[in-house]
Amino acid sequence: MLSLTLAEGVEMRPLEPWQAAEFYAHVEEVRDSIRAYIPFAARLFDEDAARAYLQGFADSQAADGPRIYGIWVDGVFSGGTLFRIFDTGQHVCELGVWLGPWARGRGIITRAATAMIDWAVRERGMLRVEWGCEPSNEASIAAAKRIGFTYEATIRQGFNFDGRQRDYQLWSILADEWLNR
Ligand SMILES: CC(C)(COP(=O)(O)OP(=O)(O)OC[C@H]1O[C@@H](n2cnc3c(N)ncnc32)[C@H](O)[C@@H]1OP(=O)(O)O)[C@@H](O)C(=O)NCCC(=O)NCCS
Repeated sequence: MLSLTLAEGVEMRPLEPWQAAEFYAHVEEVRDSIRAYIPFAARLFDEDAARAYLQGFADSQAADGPRIYGIWVDGVFSGGTLFRIFDTGQHVCELGVWLGPWARGRGIITRAATAMIDWAVRERGMLRVEWGCEPSNEASIAAAKRIGFTYEATIRQGFNFDGRQRDYQLWSILADEWLNR
């Protein structure tokens, strides 16, 4: 299967509907540690729902839209990334990321996001890459800064999640900033 090596023993691969059982077992394992920030953790409560979630990405990827990737550490499913938005007409995409607690603190997301932005900007002509996170999500803010995003604004009550309108911070990188960084 196609695979990108991010570090020794760390692989990033497309995440597809046939991997629903492995993905769902991972969701069960990490749910409590990501639920505050990752919407699917509050929505996927059986393998069929996980398969449908992955099928949605397979369908949108087939139309050159949003897509999702898994990250395996020493063969263990440990997190993932996605292009939550992938709009080639507007030349705008948005990244999303999560890791199981055991995989954090090793720079895995920094490497994964860097590879995704490189591909999106250099090969797919994206001119703006976005990152959104809750103002309380210090780990995500630190990752955004480390990767090279610039803070733009806090969008007030711009995001409905878990039954509540939430604020989110909008960060971005423009293509020329990325290529000249
Ligand atoms: C957001 C999240 C993915 C960040 O994970 P992370 O491991 O901190 O991010 P990175 O993979 O970039 O790793 C950075 C850490 O690795 C360390 N590191 C080690 N080697 C590194 C390297 N080669 N390059 C960069 N960082 C490295 C950094 O010092 C940093 O550690 P620190 O926070 O103790 O200073 C994680 O906290 C998470 O899954 N949270 C829950 C879900 C979530 O909030 N997702 C984002 C929604 S907006």
